[in-house]
Amino acid sequence: MHKLENDLELKKNAAVPEEELRAGREAASRLRERLCGRGLSYFIETYGCQMNEHDSEKLAGMLQSCGLAKAETKIGADVILFNTCCVREHAEKRLMGNVGALKKLKDEKPGLLVCVCGCMAQQKDVADKLYRRFPFVDLIFGTHELHLFPQLLEQAMEGRRLARVRELDGEIAEGLPVSRNNGVSQFVTIMYGCDNFCSYCIVPYVRGRERSREPERILAEIRALAKDGVKEITLLGQNVNSYQGDGGVDFPELLRRTGKIEGIARIRFMTSHPKDLSPRLIEAMASLPKVCPHIHLPVQSGSDRVLCLMNRRYTRADYLALAAALRAAVPGIEITTDFIVGFPGETEEDFLDSLRLAREAGFSAAYTFKYSKRSGTRAAGMEEQIPEQVKKDRLKRLNDAVAEGLRAGNEKYVGRTGEVLVEGCDRRNAAMAFGKLPSFKMVYFPGGESLIGRTVRVNITKTSVNSLIGELADQKG
Ligand code: SAH
Ligand code: SF4
Ligand code: F3S
Repeated sequence: MHKLENDLELKKNAAVPEEELRAGREAASRLRERLCGRGLSYFIETYGCQMNEHDSEKLAGMLQSCGLAKAETKIGADVILFNTCCVREHAEKRLMGNVGALKKLKDEKPGLLVCVCGCMAQQKDVADKLYRRFPFVDLIFGTHELHLFPQLLEQAMEGRRLARVRELDGEIAEGLPVSRNNGVSQFVTIMYGCDNFCSYCIVPYVRGRERSREPERILAEIRALAKDGVKEITLLGQNVNSYQGDGGVDFPELLRRTGKIEGIARIRFMTSHPKDLSPRLIEAMASLPKVCPHIHLPVQSGSDRVLCLMNRRYTRADYLALAAALRAAVPGIEITTDFIVGFPGETEEDFLDSLRLAREAGFSAAYTFKYSKRSGTRAAGMEEQIPEQVKKDRLKRLNDAVAEGLRAGNEKYVGRTGEVLVEGCDRRNAAMAFGKLPSFKMVYFPGGESLIGRTVRVNITKTSVNSLIGELADQKG
């Protein structure tokens, strides 16, 4: 796989040919006619990151354009689609188990169509394995075939068993139908792929080269969302800081233009790579009132030696300097991060550097992972892979440190009043509303559905494990 790293000259930001998109719309309308009145339904199971969650919203949009309705459970569905992740082995194993468990359902209901797509399916060898191991899987396609789903579904419904995984081609499909999950806060993808090749990571191999959507397309999408009542948007990319849109629009400029859209109250973005976090971006965060004071800035390790092996291209000191600059420019900013423990060759001393960083950097949350060997990446070939028991032990120690920091960080909110954008009501207790502070802290408070979509002032009274608890303050105006 390594050869891809030298193969970055693919045409930047190329669009999927219009004929292909039209063929998709035509296939969808043929299916809609054919399935009319049959009451067929679909169920999508999504693994992995926000990128995949958003892709699933597009897959749902395409299924609806083909005339299928959403099913509440797998058992009731006529089409079951697994949108997969392969960033760690655990996600792959879980998927294999869950697909395997469908055999019984398929035996009882032969008309059921089982599809597997997403990052895991984009690996040709894995797609082959799935195809051979699960004869009852009808359709397998990769991340670059997402827009071809209606055509593939049509063929699968005609009884053809298909596995379609294209070479990386770096094309952007615009205008696909989207069926969105949450009315208040929405994801908008601004770029696809990744060129960073962190030595442990499979994402560049399964998501292709970095390509940015045209700024006008992004802004038009956000304007339409605002018209539909959306209040918060999260701009998505594997490394949003390297967004490079047509006409020289970079990420800070995109934020500025997004900030002008009426109706959007809050702007978030994810993820930022520390090596590309520019003073211009810090300045934009400081000066644009709608941009929330929160940044997810994965550090991965506190050891310079490991960071270098990981090909992260910054040092611990660079990272701490960035965090300090962010805190100086954006008062109250919360920084969240990701850590990997047990990277090949990580010594106890290296690990202690991560532990110290977790204690010192004041993270308001950290996602922690045991290093998982991904075939084809550089790190998979490194000597000194760390034994599972050592990884487990380090993960536990790091999690304890992170939990302590989180508790202390949450305590400082108690007694303060904050603005909460209400996203919904607790499923188990409809009398509890929830939403986030600008700093990304989740707050629960007594309140009803009528508050959804509104920004209300909440007095924070106590903390729970991962969130804050409060009560409505007297509302201004
Ligand atoms: N593009 C984002 C996130 C990518 S995946 C970024 O660069 O931050 C999300 C997280 O999964 C990463 O930040 C990393 O901490 C973790 N991750 C990626 N590959 C991994 C692997 N092979 N083993 C364990 N964790 C991994
Ligand atoms: Fe993976 Fe690194 Fe790209 Fe993030 S920046 S997706 S961790 S290669
Ligand atoms: Fe996301 Fe997993 Fe793919 S983290 S990009 S769904 S490999």
